[in-house]
Amino acid sequence: MTLPIGVLISGSGSNLQALIDRMEVGVLDVTIQAVISNVPGVKGLERAANHGIFSQTLSHRNYPDRASYDRIVVRVLRDAGVQAVVLAGFMRLVGPELLAAFPGRVLNIHPALLPSFPGLHAQEQAAAYGVRLAGCTVHFVDEEVDHGPIIIQAAVPALPGEEADALGDRILALEHRIFPQAVQWLAEDRLEVQGRQVVVRPGERLLATRNDLPPCLVFPPLEEGF
Ligand code: GRF
Repeated sequence: MTLPIGVLISGSGSNLQALIDRMEVGVLDVTIQAVISNVPGVKGLERAANHGIFSQTLSHRNYPDRASYDRIVVRVLRDAGVQAVVLAGFMRLVGPELLAAFPGRVLNIHPALLPSFPGLHAQEQAAAYGVRLAGCTVHFVDEEVDHGPIIIQAAVPALPGEEADALGDRILALEHRIFPQAVQWLAEDRLEVQGRQVVVRPGERLLATRNDLPPCLVFPPLEEGF
């Protein structure tokens, strides 16, 4: 079964690209039915077009409040046949209208080890704080910022004196691994939320061999193809 998803973006869309790439090699069982950007002209829209994926710009500036913006987003997603929503660098809070339309089926990627450093510029916050481990998190979305139950996290060493950009690049490389994996678990209906805990039910894939990854810790472990 292939899960029809919608991807919401605001920028470069490198996480969108990671999803497209896994989809095109046949390890990610989704079809991206719609890409919506709240910012016009961003590179992510070009990426969608390059792969023949329907996309639309819906600027939040054209709507009086969050609820009316979310309603139009839901309408476009529903019209496209979407059953789950993936926030891939979507720099806006989603409200109850959208969450109610896709209950338990909205995922977000955040470039920090939540609950540390929610919100904007997480990589800069981590570098400035002087953490020794930084990383990224894929979680279910709820009504609070970067808050819902955590599906998967990956940690990388943060080097003293390292620029936030260099740290951010190493985090981003892992985002591109853990995000498609989490979306695949959703597509396989293997995620069970028990309060704040997410259980990943066993599947049929073997675990990935890790020799192509830089020093990092990923948990739950990635499976073959991710
Ligand atoms: C990523 O770091 C993501 O975690 C954050 O915004 C950034 C988006 O990057 N939410 P991209 O648009 O996927 O390249």
